[in-house]
Amino acid sequence: MVELAPSILSADFARLADEVQAAERGGGTLIHVDVMDGHFVPNITLGPPVVKSLRKVTRLPLDCHLMIENADEFIPAFADAGADWVSVHYEACTHLHRTLELIAQHGMKPAVVLNPATRVNFLVEILPMVHHVLVMSVNPGFGGQSFIPNSLNKIRRLVELRAEMGLNYRIEVDGGVAHGTIAQVVEAGADLLVAGNAVFGDGKAERNARKLLQAARKAAGEPLRPAKGTKKVGLRRPAGRSTKG
Ligand code: DX5
Ligand code: ZN
Repeated sequence: MVELAPSILSADFARLADEVQAAERGGGTLIHVDVMDGHFVPNITLGPPVVKSLRKVTRLPLDCHLMIENADEFIPAFADAGADWVSVHYEACTHLHRTLELIAQHGMKPAVVLNPATRVNFLVEILPMVHHVLVMSVNPGFGGQSFIPNSLNKIRRLVELRAEMGLNYRIEVDGGVAHGTIAQVVEAGADLLVAGNAVFGDGKAERNARKLLQAARKAAGEPLRPAKGTKKVGLRRPAGRSTKG
């Protein structure tokens, strides 16, 4: 099933709880949280304290995209704050295998992110370790940029590799996903769709999320509304994860 991950980067941070809940009513099933450090990317956003606050206002999984150096240092704090999925950049992690292990050891779902200039084939050795691969379809750092078309080839290559290697990781796409691009992204094989500006850009998150999800489901050949009785995605803390804080 395709899923929409509204990215709060474009939300009104002064009304974050309302914004997240509106996106959830519109059908978002993950909340994408962009963490930027001003070093790996030329922007600064938020960290574990905001994740901890978000944890109190939504049961949806918090999909934390770390655009930071020294990710290992911060992984315990994200786990304590209530992060569920954590993705780290191939380009920012010298010891990527260790970092992915660390994320999993903290009870979170590990994922790797690729910048637009990074080849998919570099991931072959660690693909068996990841819950999903995040393909950046813009250069990371800012919302509201234009989709880079070559990202579609990278999604297709990840679909091929998944079959060749007998794996089941999911494929997430982030950057410039909007009404004009979402169908192509889904047709190429992505099933986790991050959208920031297209959801939160005009203050109408519920309506925007609903429309985007409908377009994605149509492109995927899925029913436009989930079958009656479909359970809402809930959040359960994986066993063994620290719950303090
Ligand atoms: C960019 C972030 C994205 C961003 C996408 O570095 O990783 O998650 O919010 O924004 P849009 O959907 O506006 O391109
Ligand atoms: Zn992101």
